[in-house]
Amino acid sequence: MDYASFNVQVKQFERLMLLSKEGCDGMELKHITIDEQTFEFNVGETILEVATKNKIYIPTLCNLTDLEPYGGCRLCIVRVLDSRKPFQTACSTPCESNMKIITKDKELQEMRREVLQLILSEHPNGCLVCAHNVLCEDLKADDKMKSGRVFGCFSCHNKDICELRNVVEYLEIDEVAYDFEYKNLPLEREDPFFDRDYNLCILCGRCVRTCEERGISAINFMHRGHEIKISTGGDVPHIDSNCIFCGSCVDVCPTGALSSKATKWVKKGNNQTKSVCSFCSVQCGFLYYTIDEELMESIPSTQDRVNKGKACVLGRFCTPAFVNHSTRLKYPMKRVQNTLIPTKWNDIYKAINQKLSQYKPEEIGFVISPDLSNESAFLFQKFAEKVIKTPNVALSTNFIPLLGQHDKSFDAIPDSQWILLLNANIQLTHPVLLIRLKQAKDKGAKIVSVNIGDVSLPDESRNLFDFELNLPIQDATSLLLTMLGAQNKLLLRDLGLKMDEHVLEKHKLTQFVDMRRYQNGTVLMGNFVKLPPSYLNNLQKLILTLASEGESKINCIGLWDRGNLNGVTKFITKPFSEIETKITSGEIKVLYTTERIENTPLDKLEYLIVQDMFPSELSEKADIVLPVASFTEQSGHIT
Ligand code: SF4
Ligand code: SF4
Ligand code: SF4
Ligand code: FES
Repeated sequence: MDYASFNVQVKQFERLMLLSKEGCDGMELKHITIDEQTFEFNVGETILEVATKNKIYIPTLCNLTDLEPYGGCRLCIVRVLDSRKPFQTACSTPCESNMKIITKDKELQEMRREVLQLILSEHPNGCLVCAHNVLCEDLKADDKMKSGRVFGCFSCHNKDICELRNVVEYLEIDEVAYDFEYKNLPLEREDPFFDRDYNLCILCGRCVRTCEERGISAINFMHRGHEIKISTGGDVPHIDSNCIFCGSCVDVCPTGALSSKATKWVKKGNNQTKSVCSFCSVQCGFLYYTIDEELMESIPSTQDRVNKGKACVLGRFCTPAFVNHSTRLKYPMKRVQNTLIPTKWNDIYKAINQKLSQYKPEEIGFVISPDLSNESAFLFQKFAEKVIKTPNVALSTNFIPLLGQHDKSFDAIPDSQWILLLNANIQLTHPVLLIRLKQAKDKGAKIVSVNIGDVSLPDESRNLFDFELNLPIQDATSLLLTMLGAQNKLLLRDLGLKMDEHVLEKHKLTQFVDMRRYQNGTVLMGNFVKLPPSYLNNLQKLILTLASEGESKINCIGLWDRGNLNGVTKFITKPFSEIETKITSGEIKVLYTTERIENTPLDKLEYLIVQDMFPSELSEKADIVLPVASFTEQSGHIT
């Protein structure tokens, strides 16, 4: 164990001792004096937390909100008056009643400068200490200077957001007393999505800790002393490790050591839109940066309650490539003599209006995609009902989610005593939730993954599971019903669900007998192996009935694979099957669809309107093709 880790463990122990000594539930307010101002604090809060809350700046480089303090860089050192230990790190020292803290004086600043110079002796520092570096700012104008290797801030992609630079500026470092040694480590650019230049690494450990918090632990400190470096196990490229390319390490790095491959040299732009990713149903909050309507960067929002600054590879790295793709439909088109011709919006409206007015309302149908925002779904529903006056508005799927998900149910995951993942490949479909599973496991939860049939899950999530089972659908159902404590045989029969009361014994699962006693469990139910909609609907009904009758307080979350399935079904409740027969029989003659319909014959249709982001086989057959805004370009709600 290195000194920093040892120091942190001592501090955490002190924190626990303090909590028990104060006999406090963690919420009692005490007082501390920082720079001669008195502040209240909750027991367990650190000096840094209270100072930051009260807008007092203390320099930091290794600390990160939401992660356990590390105490590695020692820049946050403060003076504790009347103490046997007068110098302590603010990030890892818990407040005590009547403590008196000084955050800035000559001696403290000198100590910080000393520490920072040691850090800078292994980090390119020519630009950092240059008295004329502002002149280079003027020279650089708008474009970023590029260089293969970074030898100074002047040509560093990270310059505008560099935390190291900010601290150097704050401490007014204008020389480094130690010889500079360039580590001359190879640039690591062989992986997709992000590059690594460990010559810029200051060994703050943020990347290692955030990766561990995600439950992945793909990287760690390797070697010792002068050779110490961050790397994957065996120093293999990330693509050959268990890295899931979530980008969390890139987002927390305080220097330019880790950088997004596609966007590091592009300016982010000042136009920032806050929106929700709809690649999956977790609904992570993002900040989308655009220049002239082109998406330059997507950064997970640290303020968002659901993802708290985390994301998966799709949301973090693939969104710009997806929405800026060259094949994207950008203008409306109308079929003229068998060819789709770009047409002005006004002319398109006229053409649609003219056509729809030739048909009876019941001859017109709408198919709604579960990726639309709530507002779009609402408008479609109202347009069909009030303007066209047709009853034919349906979802593009037959599966209607009853079991919702919201940030409160996600927040309850870490406090669960057991977690059952049923037919859920969380690693693939909702990887951002792995953090909450990891938090639960760290608190002692037992995690069970049950897959239907013969499927196996990726290794990265498997190391979180205490049990992993492959069961036939009937036994998986019985296990779920057992864990939920479902006993109402009539209800089960009405819903067409059968329960094998001996399922635990049958599969030697006696350990579950104890687990089901705990009411604060979580069931994460997915649709990884596609199950019949009627089966899923009945299971959901049962879960909701048990919850409403107070029989089960289990936290049940549906992990559905479409972005806003839950939200859209608040407005559109008909399953696709309700209008599918009308389409195939020719009863519906005009169809407006926002989803690619693949397995339904459409040859009886007389007029087809397709609205999509990209061309498809279906749009090639359409009479009218309309573009659609992506989730990064609209501020509607996804719930
Ligand atoms: S990481 Fe920061 S301090 Fe280092 S060269 Fe880049 S901008 Fe300068
Ligand atoms: S991208 Fe994610 S999984 Fe990969 S090393 Fe970074 S934090 Fe870990
Ligand atoms: S790569 Fe970045 S986050 Fe990781 S230890 Fe180095 S400086 Fe810190
Ligand atoms: S030691 Fe406190 S921020 Fe690094």
